[in-house]
Amino acid sequence: MLLVRRTVKAAVRTNTCRCFSVAQTHLSDRKGLVLGVFEQQEGEDDSLHLTEAAAGFDKSLSGRLSELLKISGPALKKGKSRMFYGIHKDFPCVAVVGLGKNKAGVCGAENWDTSKENIRQAVSAGCRLLQDLEVKHVEVDSCGDAQSAAEGAVLGLFQYDQLKSKKKTKVTAQLHGSADMVGWEKGVMYAEGQNLARLLMEAPANHITPTAFANTIEEKLAPHAERVTINKRSQAWIAEQQMGAFLSVSKGSEEPPVFLELHYNGSPDSKQPPLLLVGKGITFDSGGISLKPSQSMDAMRADMGGAATVCASIVMAAALKLPVNIIGLAPLCENMPSGKATKPGDVVTARNGKTIQVDNTDAEGRLILADALCYGHTFNPRAIVNVATLTGAMDVALGSAATGVFTNSDWLWEQLHKASVVTGDRVWRMPLFQHYTRQVTDSQLADLNNIGKYSRSGGACTAAAFLREFVSAPHWAHLDIAGVMSNKDEIPYLRKGMSGRPTRTLVEFAAGLAHNG
Ligand code: BES
Ligand code: ZN
Ligand code: ZN
Repeated sequence: MLLVRRTVKAAVRTNTCRCFSVAQTHLSDRKGLVLGVFEQQEGEDDSLHLTEAAAGFDKSLSGRLSELLKISGPALKKGKSRMFYGIHKDFPCVAVVGLGKNKAGVCGAENWDTSKENIRQAVSAGCRLLQDLEVKHVEVDSCGDAQSAAEGAVLGLFQYDQLKSKKKTKVTAQLHGSADMVGWEKGVMYAEGQNLARLLMEAPANHITPTAFANTIEEKLAPHAERVTINKRSQAWIAEQQMGAFLSVSKGSEEPPVFLELHYNGSPDSKQPPLLLVGKGITFDSGGISLKPSQSMDAMRADMGGAATVCASIVMAAALKLPVNIIGLAPLCENMPSGKATKPGDVVTARNGKTIQVDNTDAEGRLILADALCYGHTFNPRAIVNVATLTGAMDVALGSAATGVFTNSDWLWEQLHKASVVTGDRVWRMPLFQHYTRQVTDSQLADLNNIGKYSRSGGACTAAAFLREFVSAPHWAHLDIAGVMSNKDEIPYLRKGMSGRPTRTLVEFAAGLAHNG
């Protein structure tokens, strides 16, 4: 006790000589600093385990930071932060964040890189504390992995408040005490990609209509015009293509549908077969005539999450100049009830001539994807990945822990899984058994039924089996992102709201393909 009191006295004494008055810094241009500290390993003495940047900062203050850390409370737990004021003339506010165990690495049980995930979590917590103090500029410790630190900062600071009068402080973040600018910039890009998807998903459906969605993506791709071509296909084009399944969904709405087609030509070999990404783009899903209950229907403004994550990842692939060719397809429309809407029991014909009995108009995602997948095959892609907020059953199965992946290709599964371990935005493999196929190919009036025979059982799997009827390519994966669509508090570095998942995993996957030729 006596010892502690003496230390405190010493600290206070030093404080008086090193305290920097507020008058020295304009309140509005105060700079913040985020520094990391690792957990002590078992058997270690009680010395602090600071990161390299934090140790450098501590040294420049003759050990003042470690001194304050020790007297201010117990060792910092993973993801927790503590703020110190007035200890450095350039940084009036310093947030120290807990990083957990040093070199924790990849965890087989969790299917992610724990070190990276801890850094994202800790850095975002520190940045947010500083944002709450209305600090406009923060410098961030790389914590040994500049990319993850940048992701934590940029994802953690994002807030969709465009439509509010009172907005959160806009904070800019910069790397501190590390030379790894390449890693930092890459992390910023990955996170900005996810933030673009979050913005599109969170925005209300009266703002992000199919037309507005397509225009936003066109604007974002404008700086990369040299390598990108964009086609915003009209209703007339969709009809010419005989996309009867897509049109059967859009016809209940007053908003015209758009079929968005993006070509990113990043490979030096222009003939290289493209990666094809297809995203479900229902800008609002009321359920149609099979109307959804009104509670939580507002969340269905994010039913274009597949299109948002696919398009955002193509914007980022272009910004990162990934040496790979990618084609992105997004069938965009609303699913609404009206006198013109499709009725349960109606039969429609997809682009490949297959007939579909639409017994539930709320199972609309698979209809628009069916036509997009048929069209996508015309580009002879090396792999097809479709992404969709397809079924509530996917949320029941895995919740928000991981995206469900249904694939006919072990190779494609490995690539996606590998990417997700790095990003921490996880995937989990789901079955594509014939068992489920039989439940969608047994239809009274048509070749297929848009819902499984035993409607509620295995709903995510019957939806995937339905999509498979429109795929002949050997490397295809369907990603059901309904469970990861939104975040309450499960992913600590994402605020409550639409998540933009799994954009970073898609970009990392595309980068992996680019580098493996
Ligand atoms: N967009 C929904 C799925 C969804 C639900 C996404 C919750 C995100 C959160 C989809 O169009 C849908 O309504 N699917 C139905 C299918 C059913 C009628 C076979 C569902 O999951 O209930
Ligand atoms: Zn639906
Ligand atoms: Zn839907």
